[in-house]
Amino acid sequence: MTYVTAIEDAVSKIKNNLLRRGDLFPHIKNGDSSEKHYVWRENTDWIEGFYTGMVWLSYEYTGDTFFRDAAVRQIDDFRRRLDGNVSLNHHDIGFLYCPSALAGWIVEGSEEARRLALDAADKLLERWRPKGQYIQAWGPEGDPENGGRIIIDCLMNLPLLFWASEQTGELKYKEIAVKHADLSRRYLVRGDDSSYHTFYFDQEDGKPVRGGTHQGFHDGSTWTRGQAWGIYGFALCYRYTGNPLYLETSKRLARYFIERMPEDHVVYWDFDVTQGEGTYRDSSASAIATCGMLELLEHLEQLGQGDQEYNDIRDAVQRTMQSLYENYSTRDQPEAEGILQHGSYYVRGNLGPDDYIIWGDYYYLEALLRMEKGIPGYWYERG
Ligand code: GLY
Repeated sequence: MTYVTAIEDAVSKIKNNLLRRGDLFPHIKNGDSSEKHYVWRENTDWIEGFYTGMVWLSYEYTGDTFFRDAAVRQIDDFRRRLDGNVSLNHHDIGFLYCPSALAGWIVEGSEEARRLALDAADKLLERWRPKGQYIQAWGPEGDPENGGRIIIDCLMNLPLLFWASEQTGELKYKEIAVKHADLSRRYLVRGDDSSYHTFYFDQEDGKPVRGGTHQGFHDGSTWTRGQAWGIYGFALCYRYTGNPLYLETSKRLARYFIERMPEDHVVYWDFDVTQGEGTYRDSSASAIATCGMLELLEHLEQLGQGDQEYNDIRDAVQRTMQSLYENYSTRDQPEAEGILQHGSYYVRGNLGPDDYIIWGDYYYLEALLRMEKGIPGYWYERG
């Protein structure tokens, strides 16, 4: 199956959005998801980088400088945000600055974009808590609720640190990324290959306390998007370090994900909810997991591992992408602002439980371009 039509459709929607919405960014709806358009706001949340990433991907695919100029304007906005320290008291600095600033460096060697990505890496380092040896997920240091908390999503922010070490030769970024990845592997990944969304450590002595969740069904459940962040995050940790334990962990998480895919190969929002009619899907989790599996496949190919597991992962990628395209994309809705339907942000909080989700759109497009054109997204420099 070829996905050129899917890419063309996505790129044309991104162009329409840029023309219609100017320099605003798509956001998650608060509550009512019945109207199928994005909410558009300033650059103040954790998600804006994905939109800029889609603009860069569109530029790489088309060569149309309309996209390049929009991406550069958005990068200027990310510089203002970092300099003004606007809403950056969280770990999602990699999600913000890889698909924007690091992309600007990867795509056109912009020195300003490179500097911005390095400054963002320094910002992320501010969240390192030496006592517990982790990067704190949210809130200020010492925060009673979140001061001792890590989150599986953060694995996708580590590439910014790994890359900063490669760029500068300074080991501190990589050392912190490795320590955080090791701790995440030990405490967020469970023995049956499922995962906690978050884990708490004692802020006084750094000792482990308990697993928990933020957006999952319950503390011990497996939130599908968390599992997907883990698949991709550990595969990228392997890319940067060559540590086979990270590759193995990514494979384990992928196996768990694949074995629990429903009939149409797009997951529900948590593996522990009762599946069936009326249960929300999370198409974004499937798009992220697919990108993680494409990353995994590349490493397995390089290692010459074309075994049954390799075939299972490859089949899962193909089935999921076909289903996303046929059953979830807005390919038949030219006026739609989103590209994938039926993502869920935070079901229990009734925030965007069934909606367009910008990172779902981003990872879907990343997967399409990786499969069709060999363009791999913006989590590492290309060889
Ligand atoms: N990183 C937050 C989320 O995936 O919703």
